[in-house]
Amino acid sequence: MAQNDGGNSEEVPASGGVISDIVNSPVNLGLLAICFYLLYKIFFGKKPDVSPVPEVPQMPPLKKHDMTLTELKKYDGVSNEEGRVCVAVNGKVFDVTKGKRFYGPGGPYASFAGRDATRGLATFSVEVANGDDYDDLSDLNSMQMDSVREWEIQFQEKYHYVGRLLRPGEEPTDYSDEEDTREGMMNLWTC
Ligand code: HEM
Repeated sequence: MAQNDGGNSEEVPASGGVISDIVNSPVNLGLLAICFYLLYKIFFGKKPDVSPVPEVPQMPPLKKHDMTLTELKKYDGVSNEEGRVCVAVNGKVFDVTKGKRFYGPGGPYASFAGRDATRGLATFSVEVANGDDYDDLSDLNSMQMDSVREWEIQFQEKYHYVGRLLRPGEEPTDYSDEEDTREGMMNLWTC
């Protein structure tokens, strides 16, 4: 026998009630349409036209060798045919060609190209003061030297290490044994 609850019983929607709620309400239908539209835009929408970053041609890494300031100057991105760029940081030369958008002609740090950037990095300046003379950095304070070492780590992590920046009169290291050992290791790996 059916019981009368005085009209207080709540209607439990049958399965499909949610769907019929949406379909029957113009507001819900509108929201659903917007959801579908946004999903469509996310997955199939036209991707924005991002101007392509100029490709830096892949080059084999520079053979490991130490260099003087004069030799370093050749790697300013324009003086050598390959357009290679090197920068010295704390006595170490790095091949930064893959960061040419920073150090290449017109880049924000182009003044560091083919130069010893240490003092500039230590003093947070893109000016390279003693560009032509070897800078022994002896007047930099400990905070500046800490900052130099942090930059050095950053360069080490990102760029290929080429060799030491030679002081005037300093002899370059012969790395040929190291290269042979490395090649030997590579051969072992490929065996
Ligand atoms: C307030 C002014 C500056 C702003 C807003 C700025 C901004 C930036 C940004 C956003 C990056 C990272 C770029 C990237 O990885 O895509 C960068 C990297 C760099 N900045 Fe600056 N910078 C400023 C001043 C300087 C100054 C004065 C120096 C010189 C000491 C400097 C040297 C560098 C260097 C060496 C890099 C690393 C580039 C690389 O990855 O090889 N910046 N800067």
